[in-house]
Amino acid sequence: MQIAIDGPASTGKSTVAKIIAKKLDFLYVDTGAMYRSLTYFGLKNKIDLNNEELLTNLLKSMNYDSRVINNRLHFFVNSEDVTQEIRNPIVAKNVSQVASYPSVRKHLISLQQNIAGNQNVVMDGRDIGTVVLPSADYKFFLTADPKIRAKRRFLENKKKGINLSLEELVTAIKRRDELDSKQMVMAKDAILIDTGEMSIDQVVNSLMNKIQR
Ligand code: CDP
Ligand code: CDP
Repeated sequence: MQIAIDGPASTGKSTVAKIIAKKLDFLYVDTGAMYRSLTYFGLKNKIDLNNEELLTNLLKSMNYDSRVINNRLHFFVNSEDVTQEIRNPIVAKNVSQVASYPSVRKHLISLQQNIAGNQNVVMDGRDIGTVVLPSADYKFFLTADPKIRAKRRFLENKKKGINLSLEELVTAIKRRDELDSKQMVMAKDAILIDTGEMSIDQVVNSLMNKIQR
């Protein structure tokens, strides 16, 4: 069975996808982490982010892996743990540009499709229900007001000691929505859920109620 969860930043996709995957004992695949990893290594290796060809070559040299350690999902690229680094605001700021390149998308989409294979999977991203797994058994599209999403990021950042104002985060979230709009289309057969006024548990229950095993 394939479950696709799409939607803009901070709607709760990854939190909810992880819980559902655990409940169902399915594989969880975070596609955003792949775009973020490429952006992180592009920045680290001082690659010009306007250069699609160099970025695609870098991507082809990257081996992506994820494992649960102490109850937390960790991401590895060529065996380096990049779990923390890929969440930095500088990565969030540049990731949409990197994700806009057709050759980057082509490579990662086929990698994601190969990972899913015939397994039971919960995959979250922007284009899972439309492009990566168009015949997924269940498709969800999460949404929420940008101000609520910025507040969620603000609280997350605070815990990590990152100091960005709420206003800066609203601007950053709206900018990313705009830049992602081309690759973020809700599938016609997706179920739309506004998570703005919902707790994580409520969102999880709402999805679980729709999923029949
Ligand atoms: O967690 P958050 O929603 O902030 O973002 P993410 O899921 O980690 O994705 C980071 C970025 O990767 C997005 O803003 C998109 O630019 C890109 N992305 C994409 O283009 N397609 C996907 N399937 C997943 C992410
Ligand atoms: O993956 P995505 O960027 O869509 O969102 P996330 O990383 O799962 O969630 C962003 C933050 O919002 C996390 O700290 C969640 O705990 C929080 N959140 C929430 O408080 N209530 C919700 N209904 C959804 C997410």
